[in-house]
Amino acid sequence: MSTTYRPAGLATRTESLTSSAIRDLLALTARDDVISLAGGLPATDLIPIDRIAAAAEAALRRPDAVQYCETSGHRTLRSVVAARESLTRGGMPVPVESVIVTHGSQQALTLLAQALIDPGAVVVVDEPAYTGALQVFSIAEARIESIPITDTGMDTDELERRLAAGLRPAVVHTVANFHNPRGVTMSEQRRRHLAALADRYGFWVIEDDPYGEICFDTTESDIGVPPLPIACHSDRVIRLSSASKILAPTLRVGWFVAPLSICAAVELLKQGADLCGSSMTQLMAAEMLADTAWLDAHLVVLRREYACRATALTNALGAEFGDRLTVSRPEGGMFAWATFRDGTDTGELLDAALDHGVAFVPGTAFASDAQYRHSLRLSFAGSTPAVLAEAVRRLGAAHTASTRVR
Ligand SMILES: Cc1ncc(COP(=O)(O)O)c(C=O)c1O
Repeated sequence: MSTTYRPAGLATRTESLTSSAIRDLLALTARDDVISLAGGLPATDLIPIDRIAAAAEAALRRPDAVQYCETSGHRTLRSVVAARESLTRGGMPVPVESVIVTHGSQQALTLLAQALIDPGAVVVVDEPAYTGALQVFSIAEARIESIPITDTGMDTDELERRLAAGLRPAVVHTVANFHNPRGVTMSEQRRRHLAALADRYGFWVIEDDPYGEICFDTTESDIGVPPLPIACHSDRVIRLSSASKILAPTLRVGWFVAPLSICAAVELLKQGADLCGSSMTQLMAAEMLADTAWLDAHLVVLRREYACRATALTNALGAEFGDRLTVSRPEGGMFAWATFRDGTDTGELLDAALDHGVAFVPGTAFASDAQYRHSLRLSFAGSTPAVLAEAVRRLGAAHTASTRVR
């Protein structure tokens, strides 16, 4: 499903470029008759359009909104992010200088890969992994090694065994909160363990966290609220986050918090990449993120609605497939992960599913080798419970049709 480009008068580097399977799939699923549970798109109907319009209006009254800003990001946004990040870390101070704003957190990954990874260096990723990270690390010509994810996040005991056997990563990348695609959250014990391994073996951890604020059960108990970030346990952690999933992807506002030496290197790389980000959308994001009364209320709605959609999807899958499919029970984020127990190959099922008007991402898209043939990732975020029920009905029909062919 990935497309490989061959150079014709192009640099050698382009030979290894592959297109993200998910982005290819998004093009296929743009058809009106397809219900797409494929992309990691936040719900369009829950994007706060009116608040975004007000923030745009307010930003445009400032002359600096229409000008270039500092390469490291508009100071107003960096200050807001530093204050929020300090809260996330349980009050640990976060200096403004340690925050760099990027064009979405995807650009943070790209620039960090340029700053930290020499060709041939080892990068450890989750298995299964966020496809955007796999793409960045392969462009950086890293040697990608995978460590399995379990219900409590990356298996750090396995990582420790591999380190003891001589593995020497430059970087370990993990999505510790409401993992993309598995949906699980790393336990506190594993966070501490990973941080201790980073200190002992001298690698950097990229803690990629776009979903941490979308935790479902925050009212009745602390179940579902992620433990403190890995960054609380070591200085060798670079934490990434983004406005994409809680405000809107179109802002293209992401950021990372890192030691100053890394910030300085990335700032130089970013000067070469784009001079600076958009002052306008950075000021808009700053205003919305600083308006805590509004943001808290918005997050309550987002969490409640996503929780309701997650339950609708997983219940419908349970009713349609019963024992033939094991389905995760998401506690946050945007994804459910499911695995067929009847031998169904989800790559083959996808063809039938598209014919029946529903799309998902086959598990193999998240593996660095041919694993997860029987798994699939389904995004519940973008569809209402009624549409999710229809999507599952279509998936059931596609499964029956493809089983008949088999
Ligand atoms: C784990 C993870 N990291 C980073 C990103 C990039 O998001 P953005 O560039 O919109 O901030 C995504 C997007 O889906 C993601 O799932």
